[in-house]
Amino acid sequence: MRLNGEVALVTGGGAGLGRAIVDRFISEGARVAVLDRSPAGLAALLETHGDAVVGIEGDVRVLDSHREVAAKCVEKFGKLDCLIGNAGIWDYSTPLVDIPDERLDAAFDEIFSINVKGYLLAAKACLRALYESKGSAIFTVSNAGFYPAGGGPLYTGAKHAVVGMIKQLAYELGPHIRVNGIAPGGIGGSDLRGPKSLDMDDTSISAIPLADMLAGILPTGRMATAEEYTGAYVFFATRAETVPLTGSVLNYDGGIGVRGLTDANRGALLDQHFVKEGAA
Ligand SMILES: NC(=O)c1ccc[n+]([C@@H]2O[C@H](COP(=O)([O-])OP(=O)(O)OC[C@H]3O[C@@H](n4cnc5c(N)ncnc54)[C@H](O)[C@@H]3O)[C@@H](O)[C@H]2O)c1
Repeated sequence: MRLNGEVALVTGGGAGLGRAIVDRFISEGARVAVLDRSPAGLAALLETHGDAVVGIEGDVRVLDSHREVAAKCVEKFGKLDCLIGNAGIWDYSTPLVDIPDERLDAAFDEIFSINVKGYLLAAKACLRALYESKGSAIFTVSNAGFYPAGGGPLYTGAKHAVVGMIKQLAYELGPHIRVNGIAPGGIGGSDLRGPKSLDMDDTSISAIPLADMLAGILPTGRMATAEEYTGAYVFFATRAETVPLTGSVLNYDGGIGVRGLTDANRGALLDQHFVKEGAA
């Protein structure tokens, strides 16, 4: 149990990656507060974890929602050690040319408000509690925080902005609070939605055969599940093993940045050699 006695706050903990992080943190001995806009997601968390979680229904675009969950967290668990900003939406890789002129303002505002402002407001509301615990913040980025083609310009722009925000906050908040990011690639078991302003709020990424699409692209050979992504969050949330860690963002995406210009499965060469030599 690597997080015994620790207290975390996760935004978007009601589904997908956030839910897997909550489950993993509790299994590692932590207690967790969650801010999510989904009443069903929160109810399912309470049913599974009882007193080890506290859930607040609210929107990450609203500072008062973050204040409420931060206050509830400290009231119930006595402190906050680690903020995990994670709630987000995707633009379904909509290219600029396909965003209608009259919807561009609203789509930009919606995606940046949830994916960037949502993190900034979470940090603001948790500042004092994290200062008092000498804690840390972890923000979920994406491969789109580094490379194109993981979204359209709105999502990619927003995730790049998150990387900048992490670096600036790490600079501003040290030595009291460490600030880092984790940049996953495609996530199995996600229910990632799109912006309402583009009529995509009922569209779920689960309808896309992402695992099949990524299998031939990723150097790791397959898309990871939400559960398989949680190990880095546990590590980043530990104290003793992360003393030098701030302002960094982990590429945790199956190797998207190193797939090169040819086919991803260069390791097939190893099969050829070793099978030929009778070593496999
Ligand atoms: N799914 C992927 O393939 C993928 C890849 C890379 C990065 N990410 C990032 O991972 C993070 C988690 O995404 P996921 O795939 O688990 O999505 P998800 O939709 O499965 O879970 C997101 C959770 O956030 C909540 N949420 C969304 N908007 C909210 C708002 N305005 N206020 C409060 N709660 C809100 C949802 O209700 C949901 O419970 C996001 O930041 C996303 O950009 C996802």
